[in-house]
Parts: sequence; structure tokens; C-alpha cells
Amino acid sequence: MNENVKQSGPTRSVALERAEGPASNQSSNSTLGDIIARRYSRRDIMRGALAATAITATVSPLALLAADKARAQGTTKFDFSEIVAGVDDKHHVAEGYDADILIRWGDPIFPDSPEFDPMNQTADAQARQFGYNNDFLGLIPVPGAESDPNRMLLVVNHEYTTEELMFAGLGQQDVKEVGFKDMTADLVAIEMMAHGGSVVEIARGENGKWAVARDSAFNRRLTAETEMELTGPAAGNEALKTSADQSGTKVLGMLNNCAGGVTPWGTWLSAEENFHGYFIGEETGAVEGGDEDDPGAIAYKRYGVPGGSYAWGRFHDRFNVTKEPNEPNRFGWIVEIDPADASSMPKKRTALGRMKHEGAAGVINKDGRYVLYSGDDERFDYAYKFVTAGTVNTSDRAANMNLLDEGTLYVARFNEDGTGIWLPMTHGEGALTEANGFRDQADVLTHARRAGDFLEATKMDRPEDMDANPITGKVYLMLTNNTKRTPEEVNAANPRPENAFGHIIEITTPDMDHAANDFTWEILVRCGDPSVAEVGATFSPATSENGWFGMPDNCVVDADGRLWISTDGNSGKATGRADGLWSLGTEGEERATSKHFFRCPAGGELCGPIFTPDVTALFVAVQHPGESGEDWPEFGRASTYEDPSTRWPDFQDGMPPRPSVVAITRQGGGKIAG
Ligand code: FEO
Ligand code: CA
Ligand code: CA
Ligand code: CA
Repeated sequence: MNENVKQSGPTRSVALERAEGPASNQSSNSTLGDIIARRYSRRDIMRGALAATAITATVSPLALLAADKARAQGTTKFDFSEIVAGVDDKHHVAEGYDADILIRWGDPIFPDSPEFDPMNQTADAQARQFGYNNDFLGLIPVPGAESDPNRMLLVVNHEYTTEELMFAGLGQQDVKEVGFKDMTADLVAIEMMAHGGSVVEIARGENGKWAVARDSAFNRRLTAETEMELTGPAAGNEALKTSADQSGTKVLGMLNNCAGGVTPWGTWLSAEENFHGYFIGEETGAVEGGDEDDPGAIAYKRYGVPGGSYAWGRFHDRFNVTKEPNEPNRFGWIVEIDPADASSMPKKRTALGRMKHEGAAGVINKDGRYVLYSGDDERFDYAYKFVTAGTVNTSDRAANMNLLDEGTLYVARFNEDGTGIWLPMTHGEGALTEANGFRDQADVLTHARRAGDFLEATKMDRPEDMDANPITGKVYLMLTNNTKRTPEEVNAANPRPENAFGHIIEITTPDMDHAANDFTWEILVRCGDPSVAEVGATFSPATSENGWFGMPDNCVVDADGRLWISTDGNSGKATGRADGLWSLGTEGEERATSKHFFRCPAGGELCGPIFTPDVTALFVAVQHPGESGEDWPEFGRASTYEDPSTRWPDFQDGMPPRPSVVAITRQGGGKIAG
């Protein structure tokens, strides 16, 4: 969810207010954001004044010379002409590339799906159409046609819904003054069907363009009502039982699926993030009859349950914690989905812990075990990894299907001296004992955040995607921002108070051993505008005025080992530029040099960057285009269905903006940025 944008609107959403937790700091990022936005006025952007000139305010002449030399010698790994940063109602991609709409919210994905009709939408139609707010994108070879480079399965998370842009005549409902007063059972049912995920087969035509194969037998919709199985150490635990499921193993739906991963055995890992928002109930967060000190209340509070961002609990008792106190414990997991069988039962893998998982990208370790990295996206929360007990069987797919049920979860502590340690989250070890409220491993996993507290993990500035570079063994951790961090709360890994623009940490595994308990780390880049000294950004001097970014969120390492970053929270108001995609050098003279490749239309956040294995196509997910119109000064008012800040991508009267997946290819063919 786009914290920064929602935060700055005239009416703060209930969701945000609850997610933020106690206000420890009254400062906000508006001062720096305003300075940056003013610096890049619309006039500058129209004049093209932000052409690729290097930033000179904070760097030495010698450093500039070195950067010029690197450019002159053509050592760059990213060969493209960067775009101009800014905000308008359209998307933009580097010159020489096409950025085509692949699939939009509401597009039919089965032969019998109804066409999208936003004024007459129904839950049944939505369940047969592409969902809302596409986030993670993964590519999986088509079962039975694994070696065909022109066919792929695209797996997509549908993270959340934006009622004011989906439904006519409604306006924003999740604000205190409105209190969901116009939400009906029918609208809630549509929202539930717009959540979850999609599997769609895509194919490359003779013209080099990718298109959805609507008649593929692999196409599938998962929703907030799809039956799923809880597996692993917490499955069947008392805390996971409800009146509808006395077994503690069957749950309906997955919620707020943000980023994810694709395993080497061809399954899709979908990460449940801000699940707390779907629950209503006792305002104190206590179970009925309990008090503030009881374990149930403490457990709720640590996750912000009930978050009250949706009206679902009015129509479905399971989303009301007063009536169904254990239902929230069944969300916040990593879900493994087998796209080879459209009727397969998704599995919530409890061994990976319960938190607000951003993603689940992994790597086969040199000893054959699979190692998954996952950030817990909230201010002052932690970075995690999971190491399987068994090894990946590369010749027998079926042998891997329950690999994620056994292994060790670790949480990260970043020491001040640039070393770090992965702390095992194993019941009975260290502080994870009955005396501290952990009766067994199920308790440790279900309340992983509390376990991390007891292990004294490092409180981070919103850990989002983590991705390993399989060529170098380095791991990149995106930290979006944390304006609540006070000067007293900074540490070496989170060095900026009121961190409005985020940073990226590079973790080095010893001997490329991802299972090792120790690591070293350094900050690859502190984000924000390097020409504003107070921001303290550290992009390399070769970075142009278009090339810097704020609020890193998703990342991907392409097959050539190059790092790409997508952002969440840039806006006219925050940084004078829209969210988008940037390349980021990690090695040699190119280290910490970023270049702007793609930008979103106003209000959009960029998610899911993923390349085909041959790096000839790049797919990106534009989430919530048109949201928070007040953050684009040229529009300057709240966006609604009737009056959105953009009608991207259709630009038709009466058609609302539609979250969409974009396919980027090089004109005439060839490698992206190659
Ligand atoms: Fe859903 Fe952390 O972004
Ligand atoms: Ca996001
Ligand atoms: Ca986000
Ligand atoms: Ca995200």
C-alpha cells in the first residue's frame, strides 16, 4: 500500500492511521519534499531542463571527472537513454522501447468471461476477470512447453482495492468522517473477488509483442474466498482454529498479496502483507472479555489488528475479531501456489513465519538448500530469511512440493561495525521460551514479530523487497522510508532520522553461503535528491537529475546480474516526480549510479518488475493509477471515479483508471538496455 501518498492527503485513511502505530515523532517529510518538488517545477520539466546533466551540488570535481571517464569508456552495463523525471497523466519509457498494455483490471481471462463494464460490475464477473491493483509479477515456464521461449505463465498478485476509483458515486470510504457508510454487501463482494491473484498464459507473437492467451487451461483466478490449506509447524494449532474450521488447516482466501517469488521448481510464492486492515472489531485490539495485558491483546497490537480499512466485517463475521478472534492468525503468511494445475490447493507455508510479508524471493544455496528472503514492511520492523531443511531436487519436481514446510526462520541483526547476524527463530533457544509466552514453534511462527522483539533484531525503515544476485551472492534490501525515526533511534543500518526517502542495503554472504549465520553489509545508496544537501542522498556523481529516486520498494536482478528498482511514494508533492523504474549499478565505477527507464502515470506506483530469461521483455505492474490526486499539484484535489487525475490507460470518457501490466520491448527486438 502506498503509505506516503495516503499520508499526505487531506483526509488520512483509517488504514494508515492504524498501520502507523503510536506517533513517536511529530515531524513529517513535507519540508524536504516541498523543497525537492519546487526544485523540479513543471516549467523545468517542460523545458527539458532536467536533461542528463550530472548533479554537482554535493560532489567533488574529481569524482565528477571519474564519472565522466566511466561514461566515455562505455563501461556502463545499462545502455539506454534515460527518460525525463516528472509527473503527467501518462506512462513514459526510454526512447527506442515500446511499453504496451498487456492486461488491465477487468479484462476477461477465460473464454466465457464477461467483458468489463465498470458501471454494471458484479462479483461473478470480477471473479472471471483480471483483479485490481496488480503488484508482484512472476514468470514461470509453461508446463509441458518449458523450452518454448515464446510462451510463459504470468502470475500476478492483486494486492488491494481502491473503492473511490472502482465504484461510481462512492468517494473514499476508508476515512473516519465517512466510515464506510456507502459500502454494501454487493460492493464488498466485488472487492473480495478483485483481491488475490491471477495466472494467465502469455505468448509472444511474430511481431515480437506479448499477448494474453485467454483460452489457456492454466488461467486461474484466486480470490479472498479461494480455499487454501495451512501447512507446516503452525498448521492445526489452537490459535488457527475458528468456528468454521475446527481443524485449523483450512482458510478461505489470501489477503493484501504484495510482492512474492517464483521457485526453481515452478511454483509461485505470494506474500500476504497488510492483512490487519481487513478486520474490524473491538477498538482496543483486545479479544472480547480480555484486557490490554492479555496475550491476545498483545498479539493483536503487534500486528495492528483490527486495522479497519475495509467494511468486510460488517457482512462476514470472520472479518470481525470480536466474533472470530483467531481469523487474523490465518493471514500474514507466504502462500505457495502450483500454477501447473489450475485446481491445485494453495498452501500457506507457516514455517516461513507470520508478518506483513513484502516478498519471498529466493536462491538455491551452494549446498542445495533453498534460501528465501522476506522483509516485513512496517516502520521499525525486521528483515527475515528462511533456510529449508532439505535440498532442491532439480530432476524431480514433485520432490520439492513440500520443501518449504521444514527449515529454519531467521531474523536479522545489523551491527554497528558493518557485520550482521541471522538469529534463528527456534522455540526453546535464547529468549523464545514458555516464560516469554512461546509454548511451541507454532507460537514462535504465528507471533514472529514478537519473537523478533525478544531476539533483539534490528528495527528497520520499512523492509520491502529483498533479492539475491545469484552471480555475486550479494543480497539487496529495499528500505522504503520511515519518517517516524527520531535522532535518538538511528543506527548504522538506518542512519537517517525522519528518513523520508529510504535507502538500500547490500548484504554480502560469506563465501556466497546464503545459509551462513553471519554476514557483512553496507549501504549501497541513501535515496532522495542528492542536490539538496539536507537530504543526505548518496547516489554516485554520474547520476543525472532524472536518475535519482526516493522510496525504493520492489527490485529485480536480471539474468545478467543487473539490479533494477521500482518505487512507491514518489509524487509531485514528495519528490517532483512520479514513481517508476530505475536501473542501479552495483559494481565498479557504476556503483550507486541510477538511471530512469520507465515512469508511471500520476498516482501510480510501480510494482513487479520481471524480465524474461532472455532479457528481451520486461513486464511491470502499474498499481493504483490516479490515486491521491491531491499529491499531484497540477490536479490538486482528491481523485474519484467521476473525476480521476488520469484515465490511464484507456483515456476514454467514463472509463476509470485501470491498474495494468505493461510489456516493455525494444523496437526492432533485442535485449533491454543491452
Ligand atoms: Fe505492498 Fe510493502 O508494499
Ligand atoms: Ca508496493
Ligand atoms: Ca508499497
Ligand atoms: Ca511493495
